[in-house]
Amino acid sequence: MEIQKQLKSHGAWVGKWTFILAATGSAVGLGNIWGFPYKAGTNGGGAFVLIYLGCILAIGLPIMVSEIVIGRRAGNSPVNAMRRVAVDSNTTPLWRFVGWSGIFAGVLILSFYSVIAGICLNYIFISATSSGALSATDQFSNVISSPLNLLFWHTVFMTLTALIVSAGIKDGIGRMVKILMPLLGMLMIFMVIYAMINGDFNKAMTFLFAPDFSNVTSDTLLQAMGQAFFSLGLGMGSIMAYGAYMPKDQSIVSNSFTVASLDTLVAIVAGIAIFPIIFAFSLEPNSGPGLVFVSMLSAFNQMQYGQFVGPLFFILLSVAALSSSISLLEPGVAYLSEEGILPRKRSAEIIAFVAWVLGIGSALSFNIWSDFHLISDRNFLDSMEFITNQVLLPLGGMFIAIFVGWFMKKSLITDEIGAMNKVLYMLWRFFVKFIAPLSVAYIFYRQFF
Ligand code: PHE
Repeated sequence: MEIQKQLKSHGAWVGKWTFILAATGSAVGLGNIWGFPYKAGTNGGGAFVLIYLGCILAIGLPIMVSEIVIGRRAGNSPVNAMRRVAVDSNTTPLWRFVGWSGIFAGVLILSFYSVIAGICLNYIFISATSSGALSATDQFSNVISSPLNLLFWHTVFMTLTALIVSAGIKDGIGRMVKILMPLLGMLMIFMVIYAMINGDFNKAMTFLFAPDFSNVTSDTLLQAMGQAFFSLGLGMGSIMAYGAYMPKDQSIVSNSFTVASLDTLVAIVAGIAIFPIIFAFSLEPNSGPGLVFVSMLSAFNQMQYGQFVGPLFFILLSVAALSSSISLLEPGVAYLSEEGILPRKRSAEIIAFVAWVLGIGSALSFNIWSDFHLISDRNFLDSMEFITNQVLLPLGGMFIAIFVGWFMKKSLITDEIGAMNKVLYMLWRFFVKFIAPLSVAYIFYRQFF
């Protein structure tokens, strides 16, 4: 019988904190520090931020719990986890396609993620040597105008990702995040203090937190929801794959709370660090993907010891990106290796290679392919972001919620959730059954029909 097929085991996280650290590592990344501020900027600020927070609470959090429940129950990669839990719940194994869609989304995301993370790596050196003679805006233009430069750093980042995933979850992923993530948090707080003193703090706070709903369109809704999925790393099996390695004695619900809160905190703190500088230096809040690079470099150029703090910031940002990129690769690698199709190392190399090739398109979209439009008026990178953030992740998340809410056997769920406040449990059930899937469906409907 299908379910009794022997699958290779991956081992479990060692230590109480490892799951939280790894899951936070997956969640906190470019999405928070690069993506959130620039999307808030292009979408007019406050209203976007508020809708984003609403999506985290009403859609993201319930789905995060659901993903971990499935992952830990099965102890397998997302494809096999969905299949197993579906079969154990006496429903169709076709649910495994949610896992497949996740592997596909992971490769697409990794492809452009690595290009942006490559720019971070490049900025370690730029910020160490920048004298401020060249404006931060011109500096960014220089960086992205060279295809070879972008491709070089994209290659470096992808290689690092593949190497870490090859090493396996215990040695590779768990260890790195422990020291560096808290350090990133501290440096972000330092940047906020700097921005409070030297930036236009009031204008930034108004921009970020005074919502103006008059310009909210269906597109704003979709972008905010997509950003919530992307930032929490939901809808594609990353957290499901990590959940498979979570020891049984840990609480899924409280761990999810911790991860989602930390993730949201980092995004908001990034916004509070960046926008005061944007306004003080008369930069454009809606300037797009260059926002974090231009604003931070402007600050480091002005700052005493900026040539030390700058590289430190970009090193930590690169590490945050690495701890996310490895989780993008993990669902596919876990599948190939547990099925015994390929050893872990080979699987990591092959999937990373596919993502690397696709990433070339995103690197070129900054320069020689800037006029090439893939989906309506979006260039290659924007199209990849659109397909994943705004379509595949919410769709995957919606199916996961529908599965856990309506199809998964109740006793399997309560086994994983463990002892829990009754009201809180009912609330979670209600959100998973109704609110999360209907909200995604509603936002899709408004945008696409
Ligand atoms: N959450 C990560 C970030 O914000 C990206 C990510 C998306 C990771 C999807 C895993 C799954 O940078």
